[in-house]
Amino acid sequence: MAGRVPLMAGNWKMNLSHIDALGCLQKLAWTLADHHYDAARSECVVLPPFTDLRTVQTLVEGDRLPIRYGAQDVSPHDDGAYTGDISADMLVKLGCTYVVVGHSERRQYHGETDEIVNAKARRCLAKNLVPIICVGEGLDVRKAGDQVAYTVAQVRGALAQIPASAMADLVIAYEPVWAIGTGEVATPEDAQEVCGAIRATVAELYDAPASEAVRILYGGSVKAGNIVALMAKPDIDGALVGGASLNPEEFAMITRYYDLPM
Ligand code: PGA
Repeated sequence: MAGRVPLMAGNWKMNLSHIDALGCLQKLAWTLADHHYDAARSECVVLPPFTDLRTVQTLVEGDRLPIRYGAQDVSPHDDGAYTGDISADMLVKLGCTYVVVGHSERRQYHGETDEIVNAKARRCLAKNLVPIICVGEGLDVRKAGDQVAYTVAQVRGALAQIPASAMADLVIAYEPVWAIGTGEVATPEDAQEVCGAIRATVAELYDAPASEAVRILYGGSVKAGNIVALMAKPDIDGALVGGASLNPEEFAMITRYYDLPM
């Protein structure tokens, strides 16, 4: 993990109103403070729905919380007639650091292709937002044993026209679709196989320093009970956490994985 600060990102998905967000975030901050959380050892990030972001910004900035935040999606366009969409500039104004791009639920329910994912990632980078680019295979691909080839192809598509210099400002999240929200976590070995292949692909597309700089997360049923074994793998730099991030106490534990027993 040489030089890469671990990143724990809580993807709230379509949960928690802006009122609920206040309570969740305050509880997360208190729990972290109670345990002398050290942001240099792992970064704590929440990814609420768009409607919560202004509230989250007010709380994080007002109370100087050691928590960063971001959005779950962004438009690939600058502005204009795109009803319902949210631009990168709007997210920058709300103090966002991160944006999830190409989550499997967006690929599945909104037909997002590798081209769209790539356009969104480039839009983020142009506006100094860090894209968390999601990739990962479905159950049929896993059963056929094609998970590495499938996921690496998604990575290549997502990184098209993105320069090596961006790799330190970009995150790739490997989320096998069959492990999302199912309680069925990939084994640390399965997760490492694909995360290692992703890093090797970045080395091949660019160079060794670029592959050492990029942070690669695992996502899919991550909990306080399985994070330590996942983080022990050399190419896993953190986690994209769905369900467990809605419980501030559990998410605080995941963030402080280094204090948990093996
Ligand atoms: P999960 O979701 O932790 O609930 O499996 C992960 C994700 O979709 O980012």
